[in-house]
Order: sequence, then structure tokens, then C-alpha cells
Amino acid sequence: MPQQLMNWYDRPQYFDMVFRDETNDEVRFFEKAFAKLVDTPVKRLYEPGCGSGRLVAAMAGRGYELVATDNNDAMLAYLQKRLKRRGLPSELLNTDMTTHVCKPAVDAAFCTFNTFRHLLDADSAETHLRSVADSLRPGGIYILGFHCIPLDADPDCTERWSAMHGGTKVSVTLRVINFERRKRRETLRVSIKATKANGQIERIRSEFQLRLYTPAQAKTLLKSVDDVFEIASVHDFDYDLDEQRKMDNDLTDAVFILRKR
Ligand SMILES: C[S@@+](CC[C@H](N)C(=O)[O-])C[C@H]1O[C@@H](n2cnc3c(N)ncnc32)[C@H](O)[C@@H]1O
Repeated sequence: MPQQLMNWYDRPQYFDMVFRDETNDEVRFFEKAFAKLVDTPVKRLYEPGCGSGRLVAAMAGRGYELVATDNNDAMLAYLQKRLKRRGLPSELLNTDMTTHVCKPAVDAAFCTFNTFRHLLDADSAETHLRSVADSLRPGGIYILGFHCIPLDADPDCTERWSAMHGGTKVSVTLRVINFERRKRRETLRVSIKATKANGQIERIRSEFQLRLYTPAQAKTLLKSVDDVFEIASVHDFDYDLDEQRKMDNDLTDAVFILRKR
């Protein structure tokens, strides 16, 4: 079958397979952060840009009440089915995470895996942060993880990995095909080869843009919302709550824990 150019988020099952290995580390980190950084019990959570819902399902399975948004119907339908299969309730909304405000308020929110970098300009990024702040009760936290790319980093980057599940093998190649530091945009190409148990092969190619941040630009952004959020702690993709990171030029895999004032 020839390679199709499409939105890879329209194939939630493949997205889920290639990122599910990280889920347990994130869940452990979230719960440690709730216990250490939030003074009152954490029960109600929000994930903007929830995708296939690997984290929503994991947190709902641990007894939390979830609100999740995405602007892709295929992702939401996949997650709906997944939750129904496990008898887990949750509030799923097809809406733009830039402006969505949860009512009633949530105790904590999380957004990892560069989802935030889908917001392509400064206004959208700040509006999103303010909408999440409006969604949180005072003292609630927002766990926000995304890659920062320092000025001296090599923009040429290709990553390859594969995953197996239920007899399907998915191989992924992720490549930066355009990098515009001035416009603060990079274009990524994802190529997927999925080989199903019956030998059938599906090939997909998807291209999308992400906003670029240097560590300093991330710091400036967080400063612009310091009337609503204080930085409670800074970590990296090791998801170790006991290891804090400095906000310096070496912070490339950043996880910020922001506390609503
Ligand atoms: C990288 S995936 C992350 C999924 C999930 N957060 C995870 O960690 O597995 C990004 C998701 O954000 C969604 N998305 C992108 N821009 C969005 C927007 N403006 N509003 C809501 N969802 C958005 C995409 O449809 C996609 O499902």
C-alpha cells in the first residue's frame, strides 16, 4: 500500500502504541507532585490535548475524576471506547485547549509530550496558560512538559523507534524537515509503518508544525503569567520529583510545575 499523507492523530491506536511506555513514569510523578505540592486532596484533573488518552485512562483507573479536551474526533472516539471498555467515567470535550476553562474548577492539570508546542504563537500560548489557571482552584498545579531547543542545538534531528502491541508492529521515524528559528517554528515529518498480525501493512506520513522555545524563551513565557502562576519546581523527562533542575540553557527536556496563585 502506498504511503498516505494524513494527520497521524487520525490513527490514535498507533500514536498510543508508540508513547505508552512513558505512561507509568508520568503517573507516578503526577501523584508524587500532588502529594508534595498541593495542600488539599487532589480529586479532579484536567488534561488539555489528551490525544489517545493513555494518561486520562491511567488516572481515571486510579480513581481520579477527569476532564479531557482534544480537537481531534478520532482521538476522542478512541478514548471514549477505551474508557467505556474499562467502565471509567470522564468528561471528554472536542474543544480548543487555547481557551477552554473547566467548570467546576479542577485540582490539578497536566500536559506533557510537547502538546503545548502545538500552540504556534505567543498569544495562543499565553491564553492557554491563563485558561488553565482559570480552570484551577487556588493552590492547584499545572504540570507542563515540553522540549526546549537551545540556540546552539543542531536543528537536524531524526529519531527512529518501534513498538509492538496485539500483534501489530509500528515503526516510527520522526524528522525535522524545516527549522525556522526567527519565526519560532519547526516542521516535523512523522513516517509510520504499521505491520498487522495478518501481514497487512499501512504506511502513513504526516507533517505538522511546533512552536520553538529556547530555555530562555520558556522562562520569558512563564514570567508573562506570573500574576496567575508561580513556578513550584522544575524537572526533566526523567520524571524524578526529588531531582530539581535549574532554568538554564541545559534545560532541554523541561517539566514545569506551576502553582495557581
Ligand atoms: C502529542 S499529542 C499528545 C497526547 C497526549 N497529551 C499524550 O501525552 O499522550 C497532542 C494532542 O493535542 C491535540 N491538539 C493539538 N492542538 C490542539 C488544540 N489547539 N486544542 C485541543 N487539542 C489540540 C492533538 O489533536 C493531539 O491529540
